[in-house]
Amino acid sequence: MLNQEIVKLLNEQLNKELFSAYLYLDMANYYADQNLSGFENWFFVQAQEERDHAMLFRQYLLNNGESVILTEVAAPNEKYNDYKDPLVKAFNHEKYVTDSINKIYEAAMKIKDFRTMQFLDWFVSEQGEEEKNADDNIKKYDLFAGDPKGLYMLDSEMKARVYTAPSLVL
Ligand code: FEO
Repeated sequence: MLNQEIVKLLNEQLNKELFSAYLYLDMANYYADQNLSGFENWFFVQAQEERDHAMLFRQYLLNNGESVILTEVAAPNEKYNDYKDPLVKAFNHEKYVTDSINKIYEAAMKIKDFRTMQFLDWFVSEQGEEEKNADDNIKKYDLFAGDPKGLYMLDSEMKARVYTAPSLVL
């Protein structure tokens, strides 16, 4: 059994991870519309990873005998001004998710819920990677995408990203 406030936060995080998947799918769709299939691929893979994150929260709740509460996933409802815009929005979104994970960690720490803290450790380091990847995308875009040839090369690089299952298994 877990503390019910922690259960609430974990269920909310599950929803946020599903929203992340929805948001990145929306970005993949935007790039598909722009015929940038590499950027599309990168965000499509990212959306798959976010679904995995949601399933890890689901499994953790179930493993602890808690109910999983699925709530409405909001529409991304984003308008993208240019090719760089989703990259910036993705980075900002990851910072928001990091903050959200940290808040659950803080709540768990306050009540000495060491099990949840240990579970969240994986997400703490994952968020470090997520933010770095998102920031790298912006930097690469600024460096290389200034002309059509550079954009083409960067798109080709983004196309090489392949999905890998999360290293955390519950
Ligand atoms: Fe599930 Fe991108 O953090």
